[in-house]
Amino acid sequence: MTNRKILEDLDYWTAFDKRLVELMNLTKGAQMLDVGACLIAAAKKIGSTGHVIGIDLYENCITEVNSNIEKNKLINASVEIMDARNLTYKDNTFGYITSGFIGFGDVFDFANNKCRKENDKLEHIYCVLKPIGKVGISK
Ligand SMILES: C[S@@+](CC[C@H](N)C(=O)[O-])C[C@H]1O[C@@H](n2cnc3c(N)ncnc32)[C@H](O)[C@@H]1O
Repeated sequence: MTNRKILEDLDYWTAFDKRLVELMNLTKGAQMLDVGACLIAAAKKIGSTGHVIGIDLYENCITEVNSNIEKNKLINASVEIMDARNLTYKDNTFGYITSGFIGFGDVFDFANNKCRKENDKLEHIYCVLKPIGKVGISK
């Protein structure tokens, strides 16, 4: 098998999304926010009494996730266009928040291990998290 074929067969993002969701130890019935598309794996875990809202910056990503929601016949998941820097949910809304590879290179200099500027994405994410909630981020 060629390297190219191996890469084509490897569902890169899905594998990372599934692992992030596993590490979250989600409870049935949870209210959850997903930034950047771990939503399908999460919705399956939390069951029909819970709900996951997924957000993304781009219409095409939302359309793709919506068709996956339909394909998987999920009734506990929805998606909308929104920027993690400008969340419109009330503070303390979600018991769990996941964020899969939305990128923090703009706010953090990983090579030199220091902040470039205020981390406005994380700040907003923490505001909408319940006080005893849990956040899982893949960089
Ligand atoms: C690299 S993809 C992650 C892959 C994804 N986990 C999957 O399974 O397809 C990152 C996603 O985060 C979204 N994103 C990046 N910055 C964002 C922000 N500030 N607010 C909302 N979504 C954002 C991007 O549009 C992109 O769809």
